[in-house]
Formats: sequence, C-alpha cells, structure tokens
Amino acid sequence: MGFSKRKPNQSMKFIVIFFFGGFLGLFIGLSLPTFSTTKLSLPSSLLPSIDLACIRGNNAWSFMKNNQIWVPTNPRGAERLPPGIINAQSDFFLRRLWGLPNEDLTSKPKYLVTFTVGYQQKNNIDAAVKKFSKDFTILLFHYDGRTTEWDEFEWSKRAIHVSVHKQTKWWYAKRFLHPDIVASYEYIFIWDEDLGVEHFNAEEYIRLVKKHGLEISQPALEPQKGLIWNMTKRRNDSEVHKETQEKPGKCKYPLLPPCAAFVEIMAPVFSRDAWRCVWHMIQNEFVHGWGLDFAFRKCVEPAHEKIGVVDAQWIVHQGIPSLGDQGEAQTGKPAWRAVKERCGMEWRMFQGRLTNAEKGYYKSKGIDFSDLLVHN
Ligand SMILES: *[C@@H]1O[C@H](CO)[C@@H](O)[C@H](O)[C@H]1NC(C)=O
Ligand SMILES: *[C@@H]1O[C@H](CO)[C@@H](O)[C@H](O)[C@H]1NC(C)=O
Repeated sequence: MGFSKRKPNQSMKFIVIFFFGGFLGLFIGLSLPTFSTTKLSLPSSLLPSIDLACIRGNNAWSFMKNNQIWVPTNPRGAERLPPGIINAQSDFFLRRLWGLPNEDLTSKPKYLVTFTVGYQQKNNIDAAVKKFSKDFTILLFHYDGRTTEWDEFEWSKRAIHVSVHKQTKWWYAKRFLHPDIVASYEYIFIWDEDLGVEHFNAEEYIRLVKKHGLEISQPALEPQKGLIWNMTKRRNDSEVHKETQEKPGKCKYPLLPPCAAFVEIMAPVFSRDAWRCVWHMIQNEFVHGWGLDFAFRKCVEPAHEKIGVVDAQWIVHQGIPSLGDQGEAQTGKPAWRAVKERCGMEWRMFQGRLTNAEKGYYKSKGIDFSDLLVHN
C-alpha cells in the first residue's frame, strides 16, 4: 500500500495533529522564561574539552578529524561505523509497514527451506510445503518466471519468491543465500522440486539430525531402483547411517565419498556453520553443482561422522526431468543432452579447480601433498 492511497480522513487527522503540535510547541516556548546561553556562567574548566572544541569552529573540525571512528574488528568495509549500529546479518522474516518494529514478529522461524521450482510442479511443491510447520521459512526460486500464479495456495503470501529466468538451484543459492543473509536459521534445506515427501516429517528430521550430530545430511531415498549411489538408499533398520559400501574396488578409502562423508546435491540439509563454509565453495559459473557433493566433506571435521543420511525420515525421488527441459537445443543435440554434457564438464572443471587450489595451498606452506590429495 502506497502513501498516495491514504484515505482522506486519515490525511485530515495528520493535518490536525501537525497543527496542534505546532501550537503546543509555540505555547511552551512562550511560557518558558527566556534565557540565553550567555547567562550560563560556568567556569570554562568545568566544560569537557569536546565542548570547548565545539565552540571554536576550526578546532572542532580538526578534533573530529583526529578522532574519527576506526574499528578494525568490525566487518570488512564497515570499520568507520560505531559497532553498536552494525547489523552484519539479516533474515527473511516478514515485517509490517506500521506499528512498533519490535512487535512485528509473532514468531521467528528457526529453519529455512528452499525449493527451485517451475509452475508445472505446483502440486508437488504444495504437498511438500505443507510438511513444514511455521517454524520454517519457505523460499521459492522460480526458474520459469511464473510467481503470482502460486497465490492460489494460502501459504504463498507468507513465502519468499525469487524469480529469475532459467537458472539453477546452485546459481540461486550462491546469489540469494549468502551466509550472512540466512544467519538466523539453524538449518537450511536446499531442495529440488521433484521430491515426494509423503513419508517425511520435518520436525522429526531435525530431531534426528541433532541427535546424531549431522552438520550435512539428507533424507534417505526411495525407490531403490535407478538410484546411483548406495549411500543415499534408504535402510529400513536404522535411524541414520553414515557409511556404506559400493561395488568392490570403488572405495579404496572407506571413509571418503561415495562410501562415507557423502550426501547428494538433490536434497541436502546444512547446519548454519556448514553452510557458511559450503557457500564459499560454490563457484559462480558452475551452475549445476555437480561434484560439490564429493567436496562437502571439506567443510566439516570429521566428515565421516558429521555427514549422513536419515533413514527414518525418507523421501521419494520422482526423477521428473524439469530443469533439463529449460536448456536450449544445440546443433545436432537435444536440449537435455546439452545440459547433461555441461553438468559433466562442470564436475571435471570443479574437481580440477579444487585440486589445484589445495596443491597451491600446500605448496605455499612447503608441505608435501602427495599423500594429502587422496580420493576414491
Ligand atoms: C527391510 O529390508 C529388507 C531388504 O531390503 C527386507 O528383506 C525386509 O523385509 C525389510 N524389513 C521390513 C520390516 O520392511
Ligand atoms: C550397499 O551398502 C550396504 C551397507 O553397507 C551393503 O550391505 C551392500 O552390499 C551395498 N550394496 C552394494 C551394491 O554395494
């Protein structure tokens, strides 16, 4: 609602208050005994030096210049500000345009759930969102430009909608989920749109994640067939699992991905601290995020204990191709193939970049890294 829409009787009220306030001020001013500052005969030694400086124009200026605020412990770039005014972090809490600001929020959601969506998946997302209580802020990243249509759902007006054409989950995450922006959320869900949540209870999930000390997690996946990694398959005899086996020869190092310290990029859940690290690892131009899952472990220690799959709260991977259709046909290949090729290419490039960065670090420290850069 804009100010131009203020009702006539409201602006009338405004004018009345304005004039009344003016007269009141005038009345008080007239009724006070007149005195000027010259009549104040305080000995100058009693005045603090800052006041003296204020009286002498030029000195005041140089006094101010010599006493400028500089706080090196402030966030970078904000050193000139007094620490008391700094808000280094933010949130997605919705506020009113009126009333006392400190009475705006009736509750503060503790967790953040994001879905990257197209309108075609609206029923699936509607079902998913209803699984999350008021303790969860819902944030939708729209890749098809359709946002207002979602208002048919009652929860849509409370949700945050970010609309940018044809971008991927990790592109949005890098731009809109900066750790300082999402700092008030204890856990951050960064989920695809094609997940079936019939057997998933979000509160129970959080309880298990805390109980088992998981900093990076995902719900286990059904159905079993068609899944690539054994690690994320649901087990029916445990709450949580952190290790698995692959075909012989696949995991020379049993505590490294894909046999431990591993969840996929489809439905990860990060603790606030883990996300603060993972966000920095996301490369701006690697939009598909392939290979990130193998590198999540760099962000927590010991990774094989703090990364795991929650079996007791599981989801169904429906595998509906959606973003793939958002590609563009290249000469001689369909859209989905061109997207898939880029996914694989990004994975190889990310792997190379990470390895080079690690080598660079160890070299600069004079550390022999031949045994340090192992992976399965
Ligand atoms: C658990 O899974 C195993 C094999 O996947 C199956 O044989 C068993 O019947 C299942 N148990 C229950 C209680 O569903
Ligand atoms: C998957 O992991 C389970 C548990 O570690 C193991 O028993 C099973 O053999 C593994 N499956 C394959 C195909 O490696």
